[in-house]
Amino acid sequence: MKLIKGNLIYSPRLGELVTLERGALLLDDRGVILDVLAAPPESCDAEVIDCGAALVMPSFVDMHLHAPQYPMLGMGMDLPLIEWLNTYTFHTEARFADTDYARRVYRALARELITGGTTRVCMFSSLHTDATLILMEELERAGVTGCVGKVNMDRNGGEDLRETTEESKRETLRWLDRCGSFRYVRPILTPRFTPCCTDELMAWLGRLAEERGLRVQSHLSENENEIAWVRELHPDCPQYWETYAKYGLWKDHTVMAHCVYSNAREREALLRSNVVVAHCADSNVNICSGVAPVRTMLREGVWVTLGSDIAGGAELAMNRVITMSIRASKIRCMQSDGKENFLTVDEGYYLGSTAGHRWFGADGGFVRGVPLHAIVVDDGALAEPVRTLTLRERFERCIYLMDKSAIKAVWSEGRKVVG
Ligand code: GUN
Ligand code: FE
Repeated sequence: MKLIKGNLIYSPRLGELVTLERGALLLDDRGVILDVLAAPPESCDAEVIDCGAALVMPSFVDMHLHAPQYPMLGMGMDLPLIEWLNTYTFHTEARFADTDYARRVYRALARELITGGTTRVCMFSSLHTDATLILMEELERAGVTGCVGKVNMDRNGGEDLRETTEESKRETLRWLDRCGSFRYVRPILTPRFTPCCTDELMAWLGRLAEERGLRVQSHLSENENEIAWVRELHPDCPQYWETYAKYGLWKDHTVMAHCVYSNAREREALLRSNVVVAHCADSNVNICSGVAPVRTMLREGVWVTLGSDIAGGAELAMNRVITMSIRASKIRCMQSDGKENFLTVDEGYYLGSTAGHRWFGADGGFVRGVPLHAIVVDDGALAEPVRTLTLRERFERCIYLMDKSAIKAVWSEGRKVVG
């Protein structure tokens, strides 16, 4: 057993924050939480890991990002979505036909994710099977867990990023055959978005998801031109989401990135099918997509999580993704004359942590029975010069201001993988 002593902070439910000053976590030998304690026991026969004055918090979950866009982080954001994809993004992804290149980029990305405190991801690779397997290997090596998808796209990818429908099917099966060797990273079916997938491919993926019990991720209602394009491609579908529903891809735990323009009817469909929104505020502002009605979704009971969506998003650090989501919600609040409320810090942290962990079957922050996913934060550099801050104030300041040098240790799936 292990006993981790420190200042515990977690968000069990939307809008709730628990702070346990000088608390402790008792873990079994596999790193599963046995108990969450308001004070460490006087004596116990566990190995003691004393984090001193540091904050111990559940790690971050990035529910939407594009690994092969990591090389273009912070570049080329002067165009709206479709032009941005065609001008920069597809060419960048095309380079991942080269497996040596993939290895170098993905090793760096995995390292950056884990040292930044992101221990679970739901991630897009590119259409390349071998590079996708390399990505999964590198995530496992670094200690990042979660889901990765080989992207399916058999139309509209341009000259250098194309696969035929047959290739897409064959490569998907070859990829799935190889995924059995991974312990902490699992496959997820990933039709890029409706404009990039023929009806035949979508139907095949829907059947595959059903046959093999696989989850699905894609994009939804990100940009107005994209929505108009989808309407042209599927005149029989009144709304974008129905192009996925038609083929069995709209189901429990399906992850849909963006949902910026999801109106009441589309949100009702999200809620009814337990489809999860990956809200990507940084990306939505960078490529001028819009600001999603997150607070309204939450009020209606829709399951919302956060994604960095690199490289539409330029921030991999999830605390900054959280603050961007808060700021975006405030812009919406101001523009609606206060009719739509904004996200609080506690809510933002819940979305970037607990709501994502829940997708992986671990709800409620630090709770018994789940493997530990946590960061240990030394916020000494953020101390107030005169007054001693409360735990809550320190938490807020970390979410807004910390950089990854403050993250001294990271636990992922019960293992200490950093520090
Ligand atoms: N829609 C389809 N592909 C992409 C992508 O790579 N990034 C974003 N933001 N939206 C997409
Ligand atoms: Fe995306």
